[in-house]
Amino acid sequence: MDALEDFIRRLPKAELHLHIEGSLEPELMFALAERNGISIPYASVEEVRGAYAFSNLQDFLDIYYAGAGVLQTEADFRDLAMAYFERAAADGVVHAEIMFDPQTHTDRGIAFGTVIEGLLAAMAEAETRLGITSRLIMSFLRHLSEEAAFETLGQAEPWLARITAVGLDSSELGHPPAKFARVFAAARAKGLKLTAHAGEEGPPDYVYEALEVLGVDRIDHGNRALEDEALVARLAQDGMTLTVCPLSNLKLCVVGDLAGHPIDRMLAAGLKATINSDDPAYFGGYVADNYRAVAEARGLSRADLVTLAKNSFTGSFLPPEDVARHLVAIAAVAGE
Ligand code: HPA
Ligand code: ZN
Repeated sequence: MDALEDFIRRLPKAELHLHIEGSLEPELMFALAERNGISIPYASVEEVRGAYAFSNLQDFLDIYYAGAGVLQTEADFRDLAMAYFERAAADGVVHAEIMFDPQTHTDRGIAFGTVIEGLLAAMAEAETRLGITSRLIMSFLRHLSEEAAFETLGQAEPWLARITAVGLDSSELGHPPAKFARVFAAARAKGLKLTAHAGEEGPPDYVYEALEVLGVDRIDHGNRALEDEALVARLAQDGMTLTVCPLSNLKLCVVGDLAGHPIDRMLAAGLKATINSDDPAYFGGYVADNYRAVAEARGLSRADLVTLAKNSFTGSFLPPEDVARHLVAIAAVAGE
């Protein structure tokens, strides 16, 4: 391990943008397919990895939803999340706010309770055994209807105390945030925090909508906000957290190459950017890999890396006293 990698791993970090279904590694996909007697259209782990070449978000989503089909039982969801927590802990992640897509599972006959109870079991184990705290973000699939999102919010009712926020993911183009204005208002009325993918493939207008119509607490991705100077100024002024995902941006062709990634432009513009892995099993890297790849490609300084790590806690949904404790731990590693 070289000095950069060592520094990145030792920095306490929060992951704020992680789809738990996107942490399904091909090895576990095969193991679960076998355990559940499900056939998958691949002969080997290598063949699965070979299929992971995407030219846009939809390309990826088609494969990602198909892969999630091996997840059947509470134990499957627990094993999936536990594998993520082990990997994240090894990267120096001490807090994770994980998204899950209930509709990906309920639409194929898996009960909402099966999904969330498996995830909650892993979250409890991760806290006691690995010392990682976590929160749940329930994401609505934006290619489905408002009515379907309301139905999902209703199914979540018995577990609302265990869910911190709602999110909005899946196919962005053609499904603007405003489509879910009423569902997000209902979620807010229930005391949930709000976040939405915006500006990954969608235009700056979608970022405005997420802010103004949904009233989000965070923006997931937000890359295309950079096309609008007034929007950048407003995001900076508001201290709005952007959950940026460099390797995802590369693999989904949001950027042509990492050398052209705007992470340092975001920081220079005063944007509260964070580094996250999005769907690490599909995009070739967990949190530390994302820090490292973009640090090397853009020549980020140690001070930049410290800022990004601090932003991950100040942008989290943790209470202020927990944020303060993590900031002290970062300062100790940074030698501040
Ligand atoms: N964008 C939208 N939906 C998603 C993503 C993403 O990057 N990952 C998983 N669902
Ligand atoms: Zn995402």
